[in-house]
Amino acid sequence: MGENTWSDLVATAFADDAYTSVKGAVRTQVMHRQLTAHLPPPPATVLDVGGGAGHQSLPLAAAGYEVTLLDPSPVMLEKARERLARLPGPARERVSLLAADGERAADTVAGRRFDAVLCHGVLGYLEAPGPLVEQLCRCAAPGGLVSIMTGNAHTMAVRPALERRWADALAAFDSRTEIGVLGVRGRADTVEELEDLLRAGGVEPLGWYGVWLFVDWLEFAGVHVDPADREQVAAIVEVEAQAAARDPYRRLSRVFHLLGRRGGG
Ligand SMILES: C[S@@+](CC[C@H](N)C(=O)[O-])C[C@H]1O[C@@H](n2cnc3c(N)ncnc32)[C@H](O)[C@@H]1O
Repeated sequence: MGENTWSDLVATAFADDAYTSVKGAVRTQVMHRQLTAHLPPPPATVLDVGGGAGHQSLPLAAAGYEVTLLDPSPVMLEKARERLARLPGPARERVSLLAADGERAADTVAGRRFDAVLCHGVLGYLEAPGPLVEQLCRCAAPGGLVSIMTGNAHTMAVRPALERRWADALAAFDSRTEIGVLGVRGRADTVEELEDLLRAGGVEPLGWYGVWLFVDWLEFAGVHVDPADREQVAAIVEVEAQAAARDPYRRLSRVFHLLGRRGGG
């Protein structure tokens, strides 16, 4: 949390490394399915707040959506620009990049409303989720989707326990923050709290998913799964997609994906 959270080093580690793992592939592919199941068909408009290098929203541009990616980090925006250059021409033209804090999103897009507003992996780096969630709701068009991914405050003991840090695991049951895999302190939320914030912004919660379970646990238990083994990765994606949508599995996931729809559509 704080101003230097997305230093050059952290941004580079996230953009270059986090998505090359099996966890990265599972996350993007499973969430892409969850999103497209709720999105209107292309060419609908998507605002990705804290969109980083565009790992989630550039595939949507490739699928025909009009994407606006907003992020305060020049390093992340540069990574997005590099990845954008690798898209085919028509998809590239469907993407705009904006430099701003998410807390100023509505002003930055000059009051434009979007068919979908994404905010994935951002809330945990802020002191409190309220101001940003309020902006997400404001930027959603009537009937528009709001998609949030963030850490699950109900499962804070999972990671230290799997890493056999037993004293940390015991303390984590009642904790809201931890030093995450990028070495930055992060804060977790609950589905219920974020659902309340969405409702306050005029967005009705639609449902929620877990975000990876088994690959996360395997990683912390020290088991390597080869990201180059495409057949295995494809099989894992199918299993994780099921776990993400069902109890009790999704409740044990360390990260959740919450969707809501703005009224008046
Ligand atoms: C873990 S990355 C997630 C990037 C992308 N959403 C994804 O899922 O791949 C977190 C991103 O949040 C951005 N960020 C940090 N503080 C922010 C803020 N106040 N408003 C919007 N984005 C912010 C960072 O610059 C970084 O790109």
